[in-house]
Amino acid sequence: MPRSVLLLAMPSAPDSPLNLPTLDDLDVENRRVFVRVDFNVPLKGSEVRDDSRIRATLPTLQRLRDRGARLILASHLGRPDGAPDPKYSMEPVGARLAELLNCEVRLPDEVVGDGVTKLVLDTRAQQIVLLENLRWHPGETKNDPAFAQALANLAEAYVNDAFGASHRAHASVVGVPRLMNAKAAGLLLAAETQALGRVVHSPAHPFVMIVGGAKVSDKLPVLIATLGRLKDGDSILIGGAMATTFLAARGLEVGASLHEPDRLSDCRNLLTRAAGRGIHVLLPTDLRLGRGLKAPSARIIRVADGGIANDEMALDIGPDTEIRFAGAIRNAKMLFWNGPMGLFENPLFAEGTLSVARAVADCAGYTVVGGGDSVAAIQDSGVADRINHISTGGGASLEMIEGKTLPGVEALMTHPGRSS
Ligand code: 3PG
Repeated sequence: MPRSVLLLAMPSAPDSPLNLPTLDDLDVENRRVFVRVDFNVPLKGSEVRDDSRIRATLPTLQRLRDRGARLILASHLGRPDGAPDPKYSMEPVGARLAELLNCEVRLPDEVVGDGVTKLVLDTRAQQIVLLENLRWHPGETKNDPAFAQALANLAEAYVNDAFGASHRAHASVVGVPRLMNAKAAGLLLAAETQALGRVVHSPAHPFVMIVGGAKVSDKLPVLIATLGRLKDGDSILIGGAMATTFLAARGLEVGASLHEPDRLSDCRNLLTRAAGRGIHVLLPTDLRLGRGLKAPSARIIRVADGGIANDEMALDIGPDTEIRFAGAIRNAKMLFWNGPMGLFENPLFAEGTLSVARAVADCAGYTVVGGGDSVAAIQDSGVADRINHISTGGGASLEMIEGKTLPGVEALMTHPGRSS
C-alpha cells in the first residue's frame, strides 16, 4: 500500500525568527577560534571547480582575522567513509583559500591528533589552520562525544559559518558547540537564516514557490509545509521529473519518464488541498522529450495531446510552460525556488531552467534561490546580482523552508550544563 506523506502532521514552524549570538558578541582577540565552514566544493582534478562556498565565508574569516583571532577551520568534503582518503583531501581547498585570502593556510595531514594539536598551539594571530576532511574520522557523522571533545579542545571559541551543513547533527556541527560557551553564528549563517527565515515567517503575497528536480518524495515535506502558509491567489510551480509524477497522477501516460508511481495519491491529495484553498498549482502544459538521458535531439509535445512513447522521456518543460511560469513569477511579491525544470546538464534540455532563472531575475518581489542546479542556472544566466538571496545550502535551505530549526543553529543557542 503506498505510504501517504500527506497523512503526517504538518511540521510546525518556530514562532519567531532566531536570535543567534553574533560575531560581535564574541571576544576573539588572540584566541583560538574553531570555525566550522562548508567547503564541500566541486573539484576538478586537484583544483576547486567552483569556489562560491569558499568566497561566501570570506567576510566572516576576514572579520575574525581583523579582530586578532587565530583561526582553525574545519569542513567536510564529499562523503568519504570515516577513513583517510586522498581523493577527498582538503589540500585543493586550502590552496584556493590561501589565494583568496593572500595568506598562508597550514594543513595538517589528519583531523585530530598530536600533530594537529601542536600545529594549532603554534598558530599565531592572522595565521590559519585548515583541518583535514572531518569525514576522514568516523566520529564526525556519528557525533561521537570523544571526537567532539577532541575538536573542542583545539579552540577557545566556536563559530558556525557552515549553513550548508547545519542540517546535519554531526560532531563539528552540534557536538562541539554544545561543549563550548563562547560561540556565535558567522556572517554567512546569519544572512542565510535571516533570508530563509523571512520566507518562512513573513511571506508576502502573491507568494510563488517554484520546485523542480527528480523526486516528488524529496520535496513533498517542503511542499506540504509551504502549502500550509500559502493564501488564496498564491502559486506553486512544478517542473523537473517530479512534475511527471504529478502529470501521471492526472492520468498522463508518461512513457519511459522518471516518475514515482507510489506517490500518485500524495500528488492527487496535494492538488485537491491546494484547489480547495484557491492556491494555483501550475504543472507543465508542454514538455520537451528525448530518447534517454543522452538524447541527441528534443521533441516538444502538448500535455493535452498525450503521446509520450514508451522509449521517450520528459526531460524539460516546454516553451508554453515557460511563458505561463514567467507570468506567475512576474507577479510574485515573494518567491522561493529550488530545483531544475529539466535535465539541465544537457543543453538541449536546459532552456526551461534558464528561462525560469531569467524570469526570477526580472521579478520585482523578494527572491530567494537555493539548491545546486537552480543556483548554477542563475549563475549561467548571468543574473546572480539580480536575486535577493542565493543560498549556499541545498538540503539545509529546504529544511528551513519546511519550518525546521536546523540542529547546527539550535546548538548555538544551547549552553553546556543547561538543557536549552
Ligand atoms: C551540501 O553540499 O549540501 C552540504 O555540504 C552537505 O553535504 P552532505 O549532504 O554530504 O551532508
